[in-house]
Amino acid sequence: MKIGVLKETKANERRVALTPVVVKSLISKGYKIFVEKGAGMASAFSDESYSEAGAQLNSLSEVISNSEILLGINPPEYDLIKRLNEGKVWISLLYHKSNIDLIKKMSERKISTFSMDAIPRISRAQNMDVLSSQANLGGYKAVILGANELGKIFPLMMTAAGTITPARVLIFGVGVAGLQAIATAKRLGAVVEATDVRPETKEQAESLGAKFIQVEESKPQTNQIKDTIITPEALKKFDESKSEGGYAKEVSEDYKQRQKEAVNTSLRQADLVITTALVPGKKAPLLITEEQVKQMKLGSVIVDMAAEQGGNCELTKTNEILEIHGVKIIGKTNLPGELATVASELYAKNISAFISHLSTSVGFKWEMEEEITKATLIIKDGKILNN
Ligand code: NAI
Repeated sequence: MKIGVLKETKANERRVALTPVVVKSLISKGYKIFVEKGAGMASAFSDESYSEAGAQLNSLSEVISNSEILLGINPPEYDLIKRLNEGKVWISLLYHKSNIDLIKKMSERKISTFSMDAIPRISRAQNMDVLSSQANLGGYKAVILGANELGKIFPLMMTAAGTITPARVLIFGVGVAGLQAIATAKRLGAVVEATDVRPETKEQAESLGAKFIQVEESKPQTNQIKDTIITPEALKKFDESKSEGGYAKEVSEDYKQRQKEAVNTSLRQADLVITTALVPGKKAPLLITEEQVKQMKLGSVIVDMAAEQGGNCELTKTNEILEIHGVKIIGKTNLPGELATVASELYAKNISAFISHLSTSVGFKWEMEEEITKATLIIKDGKILNN
């Protein structure tokens, strides 16, 4: 099996799909690796380090013609798609559900493609889970970015000149990114609070030292749960209705109102707010309105990690840092890309585990009914599959 690694062309993308360490390990399993010259430079992996690991350094055209599988981080640009000929296999993040046109264009080239963001959230696929490996780094970077924009420090500090009280950090969304943001802010000494729609996240947030802001339940109506008597089981079912396969579902207007009331005091006291709330396949939920921003402290900072999906704050602008009503609002996307060396290392390990799962050193297994293959194979030989 011949694998090609391409240099990313998307603006501000510094990551690379395979690192020299992973190249070496794949070569030891019998794969042949071709790397586009300069592909790893922005993430601090030199051409020499790939050569030493056993890869062949090529031009873009040579990598395409030499390889059966082509690897990237981002979906291919249209110019590149035109250069992919029949029978090639493309693997990268694709976000196929919101990139319909791209998938159509790829299918016209009669290639096959797997999407790394479609890896199912099951335990045996954890080492292939790119969304988690990158979100984890994003959560860390969000705290560092926010800390850098604050005119304050995180820890309590007693000095001869007086005592500095710790910064207060509020985190919306206790998924992979939110949990890492809690851990990072705690390590720096902040007082951390967090909230999420999924009730099971309370224990996870508390285990990292955050105070969980619980949104008061409104009593379930008998038409919301079929039971006429509200049993503890029925109440539990009502709770679980806010999550599906571990992911959040969209919440009602009534819930949003109660959430606002629950978080408003903390929001007014916060120095740094990090929002990570997402609902798969939907626009990010709006959690902080302009009215709420007006109530926040002067000099406080919001890092909106949901910026690419429309933002959790009403005022967020994608890839901009704004100062409105005395609050800095950071809408940077691709935070993992700002940690390109480690983000590439983790992505490369994820993708190597994925390739090892899908293939042997001589070819793909094409196990069409196997759960991971079924979830991630978006196009097979030009045919768009139904997933
Ligand atoms: P995500 O990136 O889709 O969402 C981030 C967080 O935002 C979630 O915790 C979600 O509940 C929360 N959220 C959504 N709407 C909200 C609202 N209106 N207000 C407040 N919070 C809101 O989620 P992520 O980080 O990808 O993880 C989701 C789930 O998947 C978790 O249960 C996690 O444990 C699970 N998971 C399982 C894996 C596996 O088994 N291989 C790997 C990674 C995650």
